Amino acid sequence: MLPVRCPAKINTRLRVVGRRPDGFHDLDLDFVGLALSDTLELERADTLELVLDGAASDLPVEDNLVLRAARRLRAAVGEARMPGARMRLTKRIPVAAGLGGGSSDAAGALLGLDRLWSLGLAGEVLAGIALGIGSDVPYFLEGGRRAGHGRGEILSRLPDGPEQPVLLVVSSQGLSTGMVFEEFARQAHPPASSVVLTSRKTGISFPNGTSDCGQGAPANDLLPAAVVLAPRLGELLQLARDVVPEGRVGLTGSGPTIFVLLEAGADSAEVKDRLAPVLPEGVALLATRTMAFAEHEGTRFSRLAG
Ligand code: C5P
Repeated sequence: MLPVRCPAKINTRLRVVGRRPDGFHDLDLDFVGLALSDTLELERADTLELVLDGAASDLPVEDNLVLRAARRLRAAVGEARMPGARMRLTKRIPVAAGLGGGSSDAAGALLGLDRLWSLGLAGEVLAGIALGIGSDVPYFLEGGRRAGHGRGEILSRLPDGPEQPVLLVVSSQGLSTGMVFEEFARQAHPPASSVVLTSRKTGISFPNGTSDCGQGAPANDLLPAAVVLAPRLGELLQLARDVVPEGRVGLTGSGPTIFVLLEAGADSAEVKDRLAPVLPEGVALLATRTMAFAEHEGTRFSRLAG
């Protein structure tokens, strides 16, 4: 069995630059890789099969992006070069959480199958297939800290910096990325600096019409839309900010996960003990850390869970 490590990400900054003719939005965002990872195991077979394990064992297999990735890859190279694979996915990354788990699994499938069947595909070929699966998938072919443009597929490397502890505040109810972008478009977002937007459902207002998660905190333009769909997000953000004033607190991707990024060397166990007791029921707290590009590359074909 070939193990493939599929890490999560957070977006420490996400700006929506505009809407495109193809219905997608152009973004300007930062990706930061995390140690928290799913594991995909692959072995050669004559057909494509996927078994889900761990937190995903009750999810429908047919919808899984790993299968979609494998089918697209097989269609691109032909069945003679890649007849199939027996695949087992062990999920640890929360699903529909804004942590990129499904996209990372799909990228892991592309890289893993390329190696398993010695396809030797060029990076651009894999990136093209990856973007056809989802906007975040090209990022996960690379990993580490990256700035993204376009749908998130135009990537440039950022300095990794020191490893930092990260706490993830994860709501049990996930959010669909498509629905958050739809809500964003429906709100017909005015220029970021000119208004104060108030969520009708929650009454929470966002200074500058966005997205600011608090003073000096990272901004995410999808926040007002996410709050309409998951009204308790505003409250959770405030809580995390109040309890961990020393952390950078923000929403990752289209949510609903809130990240608390701590300084390198901070005692994350102490911060976790402070935050966990005040979180409402149905909200989990996970501790992980940032993962640099070199570690991402070096541990790609291993079983590590982070
Ligand atoms: O690409 P992905 O499958 O993650 O996108 C899910 C949905 O989110 C898309 O169908 C699209 O409606 C919306 N989206 C968008 N702009 C992006 C990424 C996603 O409008 N850059």
